Amino acid sequence: QDADADADKAAAAAAAVAEVQPGMLVGLGTGSTAAHAIRLLIERVAAGLRIEAVATSAASAAQAEAGGIRVHDFADVARVDLTIDGADRIDPRLFAIKGAGGAMLREKIVAAASRRMVVIADGSKWVEAIGGAPVPVEILPFARASVAAQLGDSGALRMTGDAPYRTDNGNLVIDWHVALDDPAGLAARLDTMPGVLGHGLFLTEVDAAYIVRRGVVTRLER
Ligand code: A5P
Repeated sequence: QDADADADKAAAAAAAVAEVQPGMLVGLGTGSTAAHAIRLLIERVAAGLRIEAVATSAASAAQAEAGGIRVHDFADVARVDLTIDGADRIDPRLFAIKGAGGAMLREKIVAAASRRMVVIADGSKWVEAIGGAPVPVEILPFARASVAAQLGDSGALRMTGDAPYRTDNGNLVIDWHVALDDPAGLAARLDTMPGVLGHGLFLTEVDAAYIVRRGVVTRLER
């Protein structure tokens, strides 16, 4: 992680946080770029901005609450005004791969409930067509072997040391190193696979993106 990329993440976060208006219910993403957005939102709240939030992970909720932001339990929330989140890959169609941080299921649920979902990213995430990163697939532990068999040898159970990684939801993740020639077909296949609870292909959720490369901000709108 070089300092330039971190500065670009912070600049992308600043561009998105500038969209936040008083009274909004804001969706907080997960990861190092989203952490910049939460930090900047905390600064605006400290300066008097009145907003409330929901979070896509326990880590993001903890960061926001420690900074004085009121974080609602998403289980009580039907609509979110603006969600700001990172991505692992993003392309000109505003197709994204998410979930390197393991939060893709909650991220997609919050994104789908959001009037506007903005991805923030440094230039390393920007690609001509999504690919070059595995698609994280969240699976019910009960379905581990059956889903793994359907994903084949290109699926790798995510580990933390010697133990299977667990999401905030208590589930497992298979990182699927699959070719993305047909992202919509792949997403449809995953969406209908019993035991698969979510995956990191975001093909319809992203409304806009701020991509920053060496300080230059590019904004994309669907
Ligand atoms: C979390 O599950 C992911 O979807 C993140 O949004 C993604 O991994 C981006 O993280 P960084 O901002 O740390 O690259």
